[in-house]
Amino acid sequence: MDVSGTLLLLGLVIVLFILLRWRNKPHNLPPGPTALPIIGNIWTMDNRAPFKTFLNWRKRYGPVMTVYLGSQRVLVLVGYDTVKEALVDNADDFVGRAPVPFMQRVLKGYGIAISNGERWRQLRRFALTTLRDFGMGRKRMEGWIQEESKHLLDTIKETNSAQFDPTFFLSRAVSNIICALVFGQRFSYEDGHFLHLLQVINGVLRFGSSTWGQLYNVFPWLVELLPGKHLKVLNDVEELKAFSRIKVQEHKGSMDPDNPRDFIDCFLIRLSQEKDSPNTEFHYENLIASVLNLFLAGTETTSTTIRYALMLLIKHPEIQDRMQKEIDTVIGQERSPSMEDRKSLPFTDAVIHEVQRYIDLVPLNVPHYATHRITFRGYTIPKGTVILPLLHSVLRDEEHWEKPWTFDPKHFLDRNGNFKKNSAFMPFSAGKRSCVGESLARMELFLFLVSMLQHFTFTTTGGPESIDSTPEISGFANLPRKYQLIASPR
Ligand code: HEM
Repeated sequence: MDVSGTLLLLGLVIVLFILLRWRNKPHNLPPGPTALPIIGNIWTMDNRAPFKTFLNWRKRYGPVMTVYLGSQRVLVLVGYDTVKEALVDNADDFVGRAPVPFMQRVLKGYGIAISNGERWRQLRRFALTTLRDFGMGRKRMEGWIQEESKHLLDTIKETNSAQFDPTFFLSRAVSNIICALVFGQRFSYEDGHFLHLLQVINGVLRFGSSTWGQLYNVFPWLVELLPGKHLKVLNDVEELKAFSRIKVQEHKGSMDPDNPRDFIDCFLIRLSQEKDSPNTEFHYENLIASVLNLFLAGTETTSTTIRYALMLLIKHPEIQDRMQKEIDTVIGQERSPSMEDRKSLPFTDAVIHEVQRYIDLVPLNVPHYATHRITFRGYTIPKGTVILPLLHSVLRDEEHWEKPWTFDPKHFLDRNGNFKKNSAFMPFSAGKRSCVGESLARMELFLFLVSMLQHFTFTTTGGPESIDSTPEISGFANLPRKYQLIASPR
């Protein structure tokens, strides 16, 4: 067959495919752009910042739309009203988690973050109660963070005003808090293996946000056949799993059932109590996967937020200066900050909220899923549809923020300088699936940042104008560009 014959045949196949798909297309779906066979809509998407494409399409198709990523049907929800109506007002319908291929490959359906139904309900309830029992969001946790802040301040001091990349200074401190909760121990900053694990965790988030990582999630079968970064990341994740297994083994040998020390002990006790129950969710696979969920989610999200916060404070020295003055007046430089201080530090509190709004850490949200047929705003969403309640569109919603694209703490201050809440502040998502670690993360952000500003002023050699605060990568997460800072003692 000559070239024109082949093209004609190919054209016919595509037309047939579209017709068949159109015939089988579920009726009453929300509108959306026309999708091509196999690749869906990804050929027209901005692969460096997919959420930007969704916002553009919203102008044409409205706030509830259907998009195809490869052959996967995806419901995209845009804007505060829509996201809130789905996640909060219709919480039971929108509680499902999508089988994101990379997460599935690593966790095989186990653990809190990617499971559904009874498994998820049991593991989530258990994680929340256990973390609370060990002090999450309470005084005890405050003490741990205050202690860890001192270690952090000491290592920053050792830099002697020389410039440094803050990435692993921050992640070591932040991670030690979740490590205390999960593994019952903090790690020395000199511990090379701990640093290596943090580098692996950092690499996992970077991979998930890269074009290659997103490609993996759309065409896993194809990417699995190719050489590429995914092989290294999958290999690295095995090290995290091995580390968790060793920690569990150590716990088995040393635990006292009457005095559980941490999350792993509590899980092992429950596992032993339910060992004869055939349907129990408290088994080894769910333990390892939940430990990984907490270790990863509890490390990189919060430390990236603090790293981004310091960058923004260097870019806006007048804001850093005003925070320091407020901190000096209320706390001084002698004692450690406590959560009690937050209400007396409205400007500082507003800046931290604005950092989270502006950096928009998880722009697409962690994908949700229709585990059954859903009716929403008159549309019918078939079972098996992936759902993206775009947090980006909530944190930038023009109806709810005066200057959505500008970093401005006034978004959280009233005329008298008091802290002002905004219901569209949703960096941890909302509803039944919202972040398990929200109260821990908020405590860490406040105590670590206030401690650092109490003792240091942060600058960079190139001056504020040299800072580019647009993300280096925007995929699963918005990740800041690499930068060096100088911490000058005050
Ligand atoms: C600034 C820090 C953080 C941000 C911005 C953040 C954000 C999020 C978001 C957007 C989700 C998805 C919610 C949804 O599906 O609707 C999530 C889920 C989750 N987060 Fe966080 N998170 C942070 C810190 C933490 C910490 C410190 C922990 C550790 C305790 C944690 C543990 C989890 C877990 C286990 C889930 C899965 C919940 C589930 O599927 O039921 N996160 N987080």
